[in-house]
Amino acid sequence: MSPDRGKFLEIASEAARCGGRVVLNSLGSISEKDISIKQASDFVTRVDRESEQEIIAIIRSHFPDHSFLAEESERDLETEGYRWIIDPLDGTTNYIHGYPAFSISIALEYKREIRLGVIFDPLRNELFSAVEGKGAFLNGERVWVSRLDNPGNALIATGFPFRRKEMTDRYLELFRSIFQGVSDLRRAGSAALDLAYVACGRCEGFFEIGLSPWDMAAGSILVQEAGGIVTDFAGGPEFLSTGNIVAGNHVLHGMLLNEVRKVFSPDINW
Ligand code: IPD
Ligand code: CA
Ligand code: CA
Repeated sequence: MSPDRGKFLEIASEAARCGGRVVLNSLGSISEKDISIKQASDFVTRVDRESEQEIIAIIRSHFPDHSFLAEESERDLETEGYRWIIDPLDGTTNYIHGYPAFSISIALEYKREIRLGVIFDPLRNELFSAVEGKGAFLNGERVWVSRLDNPGNALIATGFPFRRKEMTDRYLELFRSIFQGVSDLRRAGSAALDLAYVACGRCEGFFEIGLSPWDMAAGSILVQEAGGIVTDFAGGPEFLSTGNIVAGNHVLHGMLLNEVRKVFSPDINW
């Protein structure tokens, strides 16, 4: 990436905070007419779209020739250049219900590698950020993954496959094997925040199946820059394309991957 990385981070942070303002402005005032259904159990609101428009407008005003992969609108698929990967509201179901766990997630990819990530939690005013080779930060303070190395004491985050309910039995098989080996599990409802929490040591690991790139792109570099490991279900780097992710500190990532391998074949792709 070019020496502009400071500028990239500044603009990504500004855009994430702007998305956060849009989201907070309408919190609690969403009605039926603001909500559409993408597929069963999968909703989008006018706020997702407004947040995304504002975020893209800010980034585009500074970097007019960059590409975008944004959940609700732009889908530039093949690019070797700069591409911003945006989830303008991660945790839409929570947001609709007023359940206080959602975030804005923005990553910058260059030559098909994630170079920068920002996740903003507008309710707690927490800005998580990471730039390749520069570490991970929470509101400007350096953060690291947890050093806890006893799986029996670990707190693990996950997400349920609510869009693919036919996967319930297999997911529960994995849930059961992991649950028995750790202290407890959490399903908060924002994959980006789950990854941000792994990065800053609030939990020791995270796993989920069937995610999209915008759910994981920023969070993956946060975890890596905080000293953690992020892989797909085969232990490789293809989590953005397979949608299946395991993240954690060294010990818990290893434990989770081990359990994943017992339940899912490495090439699961759905
Ligand atoms: C969802 C959240 C959720 C995860 C889903 C995601 P959205 O994102 O991250 O935690 O379980 O798979 O799709 O749809 O609210 O942006
Ligand atoms: Ca999402
Ligand atoms: Ca979203």
